[in-house]
Amino acid sequence: MNDDIARLIDAARHAARHAHAPYSRFAVGAALLLDDGAIVTGANVENASYGLSLCAETVAIASASAQGRIADIVAIGVIGGAMDAAGLASGTTPVSPCGRCRQVINEAAQMGHRDILVHCGAATGDAVTTYRLSQLLPDAFGPADLGIG
Ligand code: THU
Repeated sequence: MNDDIARLIDAARHAARHAHAPYSRFAVGAALLLDDGAIVTGANVENASYGLSLCAETVAIASASAQGRIADIVAIGVIGGAMDAAGLASGTTPVSPCGRCRQVINEAAQMGHRDILVHCGAATGDAVTTYRLSQLLPDAFGPADLGIG
């Protein structure tokens, strides 16, 4: 695992400790690497009205955007797993962003003119699968389709 990946997976694991996931009991953490080396994190935020729940990746990107940094994201690490008795993510299977999150990541990629790296890790262990966003969401709908950019 290279240093950037290890940093992102570690930050995503820490973020997952703050998942608000009492309904699914599946904790997810996401960490964004910005172009100056800064890291911005997020965790899933569920709601009693289930459909209003927010994914970790979306929360992290909203946080970066609120800091004026949506165009500065170069890579994302995501981990997740079923909560154990202590409420912590568990398991060794990497998770990859859901379809909606892929579209949200694409907005950041388009704003930054970058094909963001997506590192999919697990709650524990060293398994990481790395993709480019363009592999996860080929032929994406984006600002160009609206005649913008
Ligand atoms: N979840 C994420 O946070 N990111 C994903 O990419 C997939 C799913 C969350 C949503 C929900 O809180 C829980 O995982 C179970 O679906």
